[in-house]
Amino acid sequence: MKCNRLVDAGRRQFLRGSVTAAAAGAAATVMTPQQAKAQALARVDYPANRLANIADLVENDPLDIAYPDPDSPGVLLKLGQSVEGGVGPDGDIVAFSVLCPHKGWFMSYNSDDRTMNCPGHYSRFDVEAGGQQVWGHATNNLPQFILRVDEEGEIYAEGVDELIYGRLSNVLES
Ligand code: FES
Repeated sequence: MKCNRLVDAGRRQFLRGSVTAAAAGAAATVMTPQQAKAQALARVDYPANRLANIADLVENDPLDIAYPDPDSPGVLLKLGQSVEGGVGPDGDIVAFSVLCPHKGWFMSYNSDDRTMNCPGHYSRFDVEAGGQQVWGHATNNLPQFILRVDEEGEIYAEGVDELIYGRLSNVLES
């Protein structure tokens, strides 16, 4: 469990570091107003939202969630074996957007091959491989929510690794 926390912390640090480095690089150049707005949107902080408790999860049975806001549906999954981006005692808990990165259709989970499947144009994404696309039209992998588990087994989402479909930023402007 301690190792998973370190991996999560390292990943978050990497993401924050990337944003900082990008901002430093951009500061050396002159930006258009549109570029400045895009950069500001990219630097928003993610909320830390409680999704569920480990005790709520049944192996290989998706639990509906939303992150980082109610307009961004997703699934929380306990896969039963350590996987990419997995947290918890077994490193097997992951969460993903259910909006297809191609054109935003709602996807469903296939528990047989552990993929998210799109009814629009049949893209498929491997939830055991960080949402990697294994077939289809999308040009992005499936956005994976970055998770943390505390000592009581409460599961929190604290970030997203790809752009959620239909958004200029993963966090909507308030
Ligand atoms: S909307 Fe999912 S593959 Fe096109």
